[in-house]
Amino acid sequence: MSSRRVVVIGTGYVGLTTGACLASLGHRVVCADADAHKVERLRRAEVDILEPGLPEAVRDGLGSGRLEFVRDPRAAVESAEVVFLCLPTPMGVGGAADLAAVEAVADEIRDRLPRGAVVVNKSTVPVGTAERVAALLGRLDVTVVSNPEFLREGHAVHDFLHPDRIVVGAADPDAARRVADLYTGIDAPRVLTDTAGAELIKYAANFFLAMKLSFANNLATLCERLGANIDDVVAGIGQDPRIGGAFLAPGPGWGGSCLPKDTHALLRVCEESGVEFPLLRATIETNVEHQRRLVERIAARCAGPDGTLRGVRLGLLGLAFKAGTSDLRDSPALVIARQLRERGAELYAYDPALSELRPDLSDLLTVVGTPLAAVEGARACVVLTEWPEFRDLDWAALAGRLDAPLVYDFRNVLDPERLDRAALSWEGVGRSPAM
Ligand code: UGA
Repeated sequence: MSSRRVVVIGTGYVGLTTGACLASLGHRVVCADADAHKVERLRRAEVDILEPGLPEAVRDGLGSGRLEFVRDPRAAVESAEVVFLCLPTPMGVGGAADLAAVEAVADEIRDRLPRGAVVVNKSTVPVGTAERVAALLGRLDVTVVSNPEFLREGHAVHDFLHPDRIVVGAADPDAARRVADLYTGIDAPRVLTDTAGAELIKYAANFFLAMKLSFANNLATLCERLGANIDDVVAGIGQDPRIGGAFLAPGPGWGGSCLPKDTHALLRVCEESGVEFPLLRATIETNVEHQRRLVERIAARCAGPDGTLRGVRLGLLGLAFKAGTSDLRDSPALVIARQLRERGAELYAYDPALSELRPDLSDLLTVVGTPLAAVEGARACVVLTEWPEFRDLDWAALAGRLDAPLVYDFRNVLDPERLDRAALSWEGVGRSPAM
């Protein structure tokens, strides 16, 4: 494989993983980030996101001399063959993706790109963005390619090096080949398409995953009503390869930095294109409704004499949007916490990946250092992130601290037998003690 000169702009979990992994494949990579403090830290291989294998990959890249960090991308792109844009595309007005960061960088690098360079959109962007970036660059000799990522937070390095597929969308087959060739050595099917196809693949994949989760959460509610166990039902349907058993674990609703943002952005794309996609709207609304229903379940058993949660203390276990990360962006735990707080509950929370909370959330809840402190004097314990260590907690000790012996396991992560032994009353999602 020939080694290429690559620049990656943006060192979030996608950009940093892309840069470090491309360096590990033998390319010479410069990662640029506007945050000077972050660049300083990365030069010392200090990675501040929780991503297994990433600090090691960064250290190895720095050690081999194939990975560098800079603040200003302009000088770096002057000698780049391929430039990856890995920039945030947050939810903007009306749910549409906000492309301000992508546009600002396009502006910055326009006159610095060498002849024949390839610019790659890795950020999740609405269909048509590759063409828009090409128009912003205004350079006929530069091709814009769409190469979406399918990295899960907490597994980003693994997913980069062992992907299910590599999608490359480009109008120019030569540019597509140059991008696909960067991944030489990685054994995965290549899907080559045009830019619109590649951009839509990314949205369609995240929409489909969200749809499975909304399906699973509704199915769990049906199981509760009918006295069936969701684990058995999912095991039964998941054996059919056309359905597949993955991504069907019910929980406190789906969240994170991608699924909510991307489903809303796709909805906006549909509206703008005049296409009705009722399944997409239902997927989003089902999630909202599911979370409201879970809050209702807590209120039904925990309300005080005035029928509200005013002054009722609740202990929350888990705040991150999923286990293995400290990321709170669009975390279902925070959505549920906000609704409980609106009803007047006093919230104390423990999460193994968080020792303190962002200041803007201090009105919402108090973060404590141990599970015991979270449940001290609480009317119930509510599990909101599926950290495996919650299963092995000393549940008898927790029962001793709780004001009432009640556990809501909204991740189905706990062992019912241990809860029963600790004389705790518990409810899961789609399964309950009677099952
Ligand atoms: C998601 C996709 O899984 C990745 O393929 C995609 O590349 C990424 O978004 C992205 O667009 O960048 P991620 O946001 O890291 O990855 O999180 P997931 O692991 O997909 O979890 C999303 C949410 O669904 C979490 O709240 C999680 O707890 C929930 N979930 C997941 C369930 O409730 N049940 C499941 O069975 C699986």
